[in-house]
Amino acid sequence: MEKLYLRAFPLLVTILLFPHLLQSQGCLSRQPPRPMVFTPHDRSDADPQQVHISLAGKDHIRVSWVTDTKDSKSIVEYGETPGKYNALATGEHTSYKYFFYSSGEIHHVKIGPLKPSTTYFYRCGDSGPEFSFRTPPSGFPIEFAVAGDLGQTEWTASTLAHVDSEDYDVFLLPGDLSYADFQQPLWDSFGRLVEPYATRRPWMVTEGNHEIEIFPIIHHHGFTSYNARWLMPYEESGSTSNLYYSFDVAGTHVIMLGSYADFDAKSSQYKWLKADLAQVDRKKTPWMVVLLHAPWYNTNTAHQGEGDSMRKSMEELLYTARVDVVFSGHVHAYERFTRVYNNEENQCGPLYVTIGDGGNREGLALTFKDPASPLSLFREASFGHGRLRMVNETHAHWSWQRNNDSNAVVADQVWFESLSASKACWNVDDQGLPSSHKEEL
Ligand SMILES: *[C@@H]1O[C@H](CO)[C@@H](O)[C@H](O)[C@H]1NC(C)=O
Ligand SMILES: *[C@@H]1O[C@H](CO)[C@@H](O)[C@H](O)[C@H]1NC(C)=O
Ligand SMILES: [Fe+2]
Repeated sequence: MEKLYLRAFPLLVTILLFPHLLQSQGCLSRQPPRPMVFTPHDRSDADPQQVHISLAGKDHIRVSWVTDTKDSKSIVEYGETPGKYNALATGEHTSYKYFFYSSGEIHHVKIGPLKPSTTYFYRCGDSGPEFSFRTPPSGFPIEFAVAGDLGQTEWTASTLAHVDSEDYDVFLLPGDLSYADFQQPLWDSFGRLVEPYATRRPWMVTEGNHEIEIFPIIHHHGFTSYNARWLMPYEESGSTSNLYYSFDVAGTHVIMLGSYADFDAKSSQYKWLKADLAQVDRKKTPWMVVLLHAPWYNTNTAHQGEGDSMRKSMEELLYTARVDVVFSGHVHAYERFTRVYNNEENQCGPLYVTIGDGGNREGLALTFKDPASPLSLFREASFGHGRLRMVNETHAHWSWQRNNDSNAVVADQVWFESLSASKACWNVDDQGLPSSHKEEL
């Protein structure tokens, strides 16, 4: 059925009609991308597939999955012992249509309250295999794995294997998930590819340009598939859109912004961000991490300037709130900047990291601008993933691991301190400005 659809709706049609839609990368010379992996459906129609979990408000986790039959139940049974489920939660389901494609039933069930650092065993929809996950810790240390622009190629498979080869607590994805690019069965294939990982640890994602999927005339609503399948805790964080939200985990406040939602000062996203930042208590969450798709700082020739208008609108909010680090994707390479505010080095600004190197089919963005900006401290066009470990309330370790076929190699790493602990960045003068800010005036 899915293969038939793939044949009936070839990519060719899209490329012929709308070549601009796929040329987001320009005409760079690239290291050869690796072949796509199509992950087939090998369970019965009634069995849950594409199972994944996400954090859903304090002490809760959302379990999401797809069934091909319409009458399967939106229930999750769970407990701390394999095969013995002493708790059951009921949720809801949805589905969507896209051109000739009709999705399966997409289920979302919130479970909890759950204990921290605890392994739970669970089964979805009263059918199919048992899965297990471990909840994040209640305090430090906590480790995040970070990779954007994943796609579903052999490179993606190797990145995911490397992520999985060392323990971590939560996966963060700064946009561009499946690279389905209008071919909806590829969203299903992506869900099956990531299931072994996304059933075990929460996957927290934000949207990239490949999630938009507006098809002129035929389908003019954006994010149909993304929003239906990758429901994130936006309601839990006071947002009105699945395209931006926040969550707290183990002393860290993580904000997921939407590069493809309105971000000007009058927008709901801007107002929500301002309110969200205002309620952060740095005693409870000393660390503040932001993810978004199109980088605000970027010395690669790919996607130059695409994050500029969002940066101009929102950078001051993040700076004033003393956000510690901003991750972005979009550019298929790795780049780490120093602390920056308004295009200048600033010890009270966030660290900026581009990590759009998960392994998608478009390949790498090989060309960096020459000479390098002094703000850019490390840049390399290779596939890989990052690890952010909050060791305690003041110190964190960031490392970037390059994919070296069967193993991952740490190629860049840095210790950094939380701005919440920096006296210089919080000393406020009589005009209400931090002293560091005054120095710039
Ligand atoms: C936090 O971790 C760093 C790095 O391991 C260490 O030097 C520092 O003493 C720790 N701080 C506290 C309060 O434990
Ligand atoms: C990278 O992989 C190659 C081939 O598998 C191996 O020989 C080499 O030792 C690896 N490099 C590192 C730094 O692990
Ligand atoms: Fe992108």
